[in-house]
Amino acid sequence: MPSVEEAEEPCLWLWLRLFSVPCLVTVVLVGTPPGRWFVRNRFRWPVNNRIGWCLKELPSLLIPIWHLSGQTGPLLRPPLLPLSLFAAHYFQRTFIYPLRMSADSARPLPYILMAAAFTTWNGQLQSLAAHRCPADSSDTYTTLHAVGAVIFVLGAAINIDSDQRLLALRKPGGPRYCVPHGGFFEFVTAANYLGEMIEWWGYALVSWTPAALFFALFTTVYLTGCAAELHEQNKARFGAEYPRERRRIVPFLF
Ligand SMILES: NC(=O)c1ccc[n+]([C@@H]2O[C@H](COP(=O)([O-])OP(=O)(O)OC[C@H]3O[C@@H](n4cnc5c(N)ncnc54)[C@H](OP(=O)(O)O)[C@@H]3O)[C@@H](O)[C@H]2O)c1
Repeated sequence: MPSVEEAEEPCLWLWLRLFSVPCLVTVVLVGTPPGRWFVRNRFRWPVNNRIGWCLKELPSLLIPIWHLSGQTGPLLRPPLLPLSLFAAHYFQRTFIYPLRMSADSARPLPYILMAAAFTTWNGQLQSLAAHRCPADSSDTYTTLHAVGAVIFVLGAAINIDSDQRLLALRKPGGPRYCVPHGGFFEFVTAANYLGEMIEWWGYALVSWTPAALFFALFTTVYLTGCAAELHEQNKARFGAEYPRERRRIVPFLF
C-alpha cells in the first residue's frame, strides 16, 4: 500500500496542473497574468497589503519547516539543503518583505486566496519531493548542490536589492510611481523578477527533482509575462524619461 505521502503527490501534481496551465496560457495568450488582472481591475474585497502578503506566503514557510523538524543528516545535502533554502526564501517573503512595503496599499481577496492555494500546494509538493532528492555524496552531486546554492544566493541578493530599491521610491507626498535606478534596474525593467527566477533555477539544481524544475519553469513563464506587461506600463507612464536601452527581464537580450 502506498504511504500517505506517496498518495498525496499525484494529487498535488493534479491541482498544480489545474492551476498552472490556465494561468500560464492566460499569461502567454492574453499577456496579463491573472494575479495582476485582479489587482489592476481593483477587484472587490480589498485586504491590507502587508497582512494579505503575509497570509498568502505563510503556507510555503510553515510546510517545509514542519517537514524539516526531526530531520537529521548533513546540512549541506538533501533533503535539508533544498528545504532550508526554500524556507529561508519564504521567511524573507512572509515576514521581512511585507514590513518594508507601504502600509497604504491593498490587494483583492481573490488574489490572496488564489496565491495562498498555490503556496500551499507548492510548499507541500516541494517538501515531499525534497525527501526523494538524490542525496548521493558523489562529486557530481556535490558540485551540483554547491553550484545551485551559489546561484540561489546570487538570485536572492538581486531580488532583495531590487525589491528594496522599488520600495524606497515611494516617499510621503511624492509621486506614486518613479523610474527605478541602480543595481540590475540599469539593465532590465523587472530586476526583482530576474533575481527571483535565478533563485528558483539555483534551487532546481540543488533539489534536482521534477517538482523543483516545474517550479522554476512556472516562475520563469509567469514572471516573464509580468515583466512584459510592466515594461509596457512603464514606457507609457514615464515616456521619454524611461531609459530606452532597458530590457524587460533578460539583460541585453529580452
Ligand atoms: N515566484 C513567483 O511566481 C512570484 C510571483 C509574484 C511576485 N513574486 C515576487 O514578489 C515580489 C513582489 O512582487 P510584485 O509583483 O508585487 O512586484 P512589483 O509589482 O514590482 O511591486 C513591488 C512593490 O514596489 C512598488 N513599485 C513597483 N514599481 C514602482 C515604481 N516604479 N515606483 C514606486 N513604487 C513601485 C509596488 O507598489 P504598488 O503595489 O502600489 O504597485 C509594490 O509595493 C518580487 O520579489 C517578486 O519577485 C514572485
